[in-house]
Amino acid sequence: MGIRILGIGSYVPEKVLTNFDLEKMVDTSDEWIKTRTGIEQRRIAAAEQATSDLACGAAAKALEAAGIKAEELDAIIVASITVDQIFPSTACILQKKLGAKNAFCFDLEAACSGLLYALEVANSLLTANKKYKKILVIGAEKLSSIVDWEDRSTCVLFGDGAGALVLGKCRNTEENCIVASNLGSDGHYTDILQIPAGGSRLPASAETIANRQHYLAMAGSEVFKCAVTAMVHSCKKVLKEAGIAAEEVRWLVPHQANYRILRAVAGRLGIPETGVYMNVSRYGNTSAASIGLCLDEIARGGLAKPGDYLLLTAFGGGLTWASILLKW
Ligand code: COA
Repeated sequence: MGIRILGIGSYVPEKVLTNFDLEKMVDTSDEWIKTRTGIEQRRIAAAEQATSDLACGAAAKALEAAGIKAEELDAIIVASITVDQIFPSTACILQKKLGAKNAFCFDLEAACSGLLYALEVANSLLTANKKYKKILVIGAEKLSSIVDWEDRSTCVLFGDGAGALVLGKCRNTEENCIVASNLGSDGHYTDILQIPAGGSRLPASAETIANRQHYLAMAGSEVFKCAVTAMVHSCKKVLKEAGIAAEEVRWLVPHQANYRILRAVAGRLGIPETGVYMNVSRYGNTSAASIGLCLDEIARGGLAKPGDYLLLTAFGGGLTWASILLKW
């Protein structure tokens, strides 16, 4: 017994914000952003769109691709750091939009590693309990709502979007899509990537707003180093557990943070650049959504064939990291 992907979907908002647009907003340049990050443009949600709306767009396409109705879902897990509101969960808000009346729903917060954490949880639920048959996992973010548009060191990096997967069971272990996984966290680094205020530690006040503490804050170069080390280490563990050599991986699908990070990870794993799936130039860093956006492009573009190995790896605030070896 195992699990398989029944359908994948993604959604990005229509509005495109280019590096040239950003040049008019902060002291930056297309040249700086492209050479340091590989990003050329990102999508920005409309003012009236919340994360659940982006998630709904991706989920509807994933359900359509899976050929199942929302009522057939047993659970919905939304991974996000930009939930619609602190509570109720964005997963419950999404449930209502989809009409998934038979699902239990919850949010999962593991920053950019969120979709892979959600996949691990869904895998465990499906394989451990026979009453759960179909689970929808989604990474969805409206990062434009937490980015400080006056801070050039962060605002150029992020974008909005959502990626969704419908997972079901398979009887035949040959069809099982999750071959190996590795998840980890290190709470010693909570302060290098965070939103300082708005929770119980520092509730919203006139002072926190004046100090711009409700925006994402990041120590960029520290995050860079931790990201490369953690993803490489985690990928190696997964490959070892699966008994698979790096050369056997068809696609390395890393969280799309920065093409320099992706290249460094691939280089240390001995995976050629042609084997690294990258769309960071078009979407920027969409946190929990990014791997879902890649997988949807791979699926719809027919870029992987049955039996291919895809090595998914992510890293984010927490710190959190995760790698999953998928058999397509
Ligand atoms: N445009 C122009 N200059 C900028 C800039 C921008 N948008 N942002 C920062 N700079 C400046 C800095 O002020 C600094 O200037 P100084 O040398 O005069 O002080 C200079 O560029 C170099 O900054 P530095 O932070 O050393 O650049 P970097 O090569 O480390 O690249 C990041 C910065 C943010 C692109 C890089 O650190 C990074 O990608 N980090 C990881 C971010 C990430 O992926 N986070 C999410 C993980 S899930």
